[in-house]
This record gives sequence, C-alpha cells and structure tokens, in this order.
Amino acid sequence: MPDPPAPTLVRHGNSATAHAERLARIEYSGPVLASVSALASAQHAFDALTEADLRRRQSAKWKVYGDEVLPAWVAEMDFPIAEPIRRALHAAIDAEDVGYADPRGLGNAAAPWALASWRWAIAPGDVHMVADVVTGIGEVLRVATAPGDAVLIEPPVYHPFSAVTRHNGRVVVEAPLRLRDGVYAPDLDAIERAYASGARVHLLCSPHNPSGMAYSEAELARIAELADHHRVLVISDEIHAPLTLRGATHRPFPSVSAAAARCSIVMTSASKTWNLAGLKAAMMIACGERGRTELAKLPPDTPYHAGHLGVLASRAALSEGQPWLTSTLTILERNRALLGELLAEHLPRVRWQPQRAGYLAWLDCRELGLGDDPARAFLQRGKVALSSGPMFGEQGKGFARLNVATSRGLLEEAVRRMARALEG
Ligand SMILES: Cc1ncc(COP(=O)(O)O)c(C=O)c1O
Repeated sequence: MPDPPAPTLVRHGNSATAHAERLARIEYSGPVLASVSALASAQHAFDALTEADLRRRQSAKWKVYGDEVLPAWVAEMDFPIAEPIRRALHAAIDAEDVGYADPRGLGNAAAPWALASWRWAIAPGDVHMVADVVTGIGEVLRVATAPGDAVLIEPPVYHPFSAVTRHNGRVVVEAPLRLRDGVYAPDLDAIERAYASGARVHLLCSPHNPSGMAYSEAELARIAELADHHRVLVISDEIHAPLTLRGATHRPFPSVSAAAARCSIVMTSASKTWNLAGLKAAMMIACGERGRTELAKLPPDTPYHAGHLGVLASRAALSEGQPWLTSTLTILERNRALLGELLAEHLPRVRWQPQRAGYLAWLDCRELGLGDDPARAFLQRGKVALSSGPMFGEQGKGFARLNVATSRGLLEEAVRRMARALEG
C-alpha cells in the first residue's frame, strides 16, 4: 500500500461536547470548538482497515484473546507499515539477507533523524544497539548499579520498569506522579527526596506511559540539576517521543542542559513509532561522560542480539519514514479528538486527560463502579480488551488504558463495547 495522502476534513457531526471543549482549551486556540469537532469527524486513509484483515495478523495483540474480543490493549498499532520499511524488508528476504545484525547498527541513520526531529546533535558512535528498550534498561542497570541499589520510578508507569528492576535484584522506590484536577505532573520534591535518600538510577518515561503526560523543559532541567548533584543516572525512555501530538513539545533529556547530558542515557527505538515491535532493534544513546562510561561496560555481544531485519527496517524508518509518520500523527490526533466525543456520548462518567503523545488513552473509570480493575469488566461483559490500570502501579486502581491506534470504525466499536459492560 502506498503512503496515504494527507486526510481531508469531512464533517459528520457538530457535537460540542465537554471532552471536546477541554481538548480545545488545552490544545488549540482561535475558533476552537469548530476545529476540534471538524478534527474528530475527519477521515483518514487508514480508516479503510477492516477487522477481518487485522484478524489475519499473528501478533500478540490479535492472538492473546479469542475472536469474540476486540483487542485495544498492548501498544502496537493497527495501521499498515510504511512503504520504505516494506521495501527494505522485502529486499532483505529476496536477497536472503537474514543473518546477524551489523553491530555498527543504527548510528548513521539515528544522528540525522535526531537532528531533524529535535535539533538534537548526537554522534553516530554514541548510538549503541540492543534488542529492545526493556532489555537495554536491564543491561544498563546491571552495569551501573549493584544488587540492592535503589531505582526510582514515577508510577503509574510502564510496568516493565519495576519488573526489570526487581528481576535484576535492585530495589524499586517510587515518586508517584501528582494528579490534580485530572492533570498529571511529576512530583519534583518527592524525586529530590528519593535522590537524597540514595536512589542510584531514575527510570524516566518521557513522554510518560500510561498517563500521556509530556514533561516540560523546566521539569526536565530541574530533574537533571538534581540528578547531577546527587550522582543519579537518568535512563530516559523516549520511545513514544516521535509520536508527540499537536499542543505538546518533546525535548530529548540530554538536550535540556549540560547537567542533563552529563547524567543520562536515552533509550529509544523506531519500533513504537513505526510499529515494528516484533523486529527487535533499539538504541541506547549517551551524550556525556557518565553515560558513555556505563555503555562501555556492556558485554560486547550486546548489539548482536538485536534483530538484523529490525535494524534494516529501523534504518528505513529513520531515514525515509517521515511522510508515513506525518500522516500517522494526523490520524492519532483525529482519534484523540474522536475519543473525546465518543466518551462524552457513551461514557460521560469516564474522566480523561487527552494524551500529549502517543496513542494510549489513560481512562479514569473510578466513577463507573467497576472496582479496582475496570478492564476486567470491559473484557468480561463488553468483550473489549484494554490494559489493566493496577498493572501500572497502585495509583492505577480504577483506571484502564485504551489503545486508540486503529480505524474510526474500530475505535467507535471499542467504546460501544466498553459502554455495553455497564448495561444491566
Ligand atoms: C515506555 C515504553 N518503553 C518501552 C516499551 C517497549 O519497548 P521494547 O519493545 O523496545 O522493549 C514500551 C512499549 O509499549 C513503552 O511504552
């Protein structure tokens, strides 16, 4: 399938809902309500996706539950892959080029991409390859800390952060995000206390999954100042960053200050943005002495465990994947606006702060009376699979995470099924 054309705006309705108003206040200026409503009703080439086509996929998203369940859980998108990636993969198969990955990997493709995306200058030699981001975090924890050392997370947060810390015999400490009037923010005082009490590493999730929060430059600069002072290594997982949506700005952690560059390693990958999770090729990027020192301690075989097809696909994504990404961002922004309208219509008691980046909507379902784990009721009674809120930490009780990276029809169906779980 060729890269889709930019979507045209087609109005279907005119409902100025509470969610749309909130989105408008947060994200847009000018004659806002009309634009949010128009955005929600826009069509996109990816709306042509059908459930029958998607059910032919063998990936976890589509296989873990039975055919009667609509999957909207794990972070993979339903969209077709970008044409340059398809070409690169076909060419590799045709050439029987399926050996080990070239350990020099992704630096030459990543450096111009980082510069073009964020004016972030990195040296190709500072880009180290690893199979995936979670593996990279585990590898760095092993060389940068000792058993029993404290590792800071900001829950509710991507659950493998605590799992990989514990599996490696390190101790999880928490500085939970603050939640005020439905808006999340980092608790800088709690972070400072954790650093002062001896945390050795801070696993930062920037942009944040599942809250959808984007850290401000000032927040990142303050975290860097504190981390540098307390000799804390910040591992900044920025895998969702290229999916930052209209109204928010991403700043790569090392780019906010000299202190940030000194004390950090960025973990990222083309896999979330270009939907290549099964291909296994991620990047660990150091911009200062501490990061370089830690990455130099990794076992020399580390890059060889990345997938060669993943490296080829990631190179194509980073160097030729921008048109597809631009188009994909428009459907994600459309779906964010559409979700606001669907919730207002079918689930008005669900509270939701529109995500600043990515395609995961963190839904506060505490007023629905579905208990600590609303995803269970949505699955059992509505036959739609969301990610369970408590999985992301104690603070996720009463929440569920909905994946909106799909067509209009399937997103509408997912919300209808959630509403069905509340009937009778
Ligand atoms: C914040 C975050 N980091 C890492 C990952 C997974 O990345 P990988 O498959 O490269 O380990 C995800 C997947 O959803 C994620 O949300």
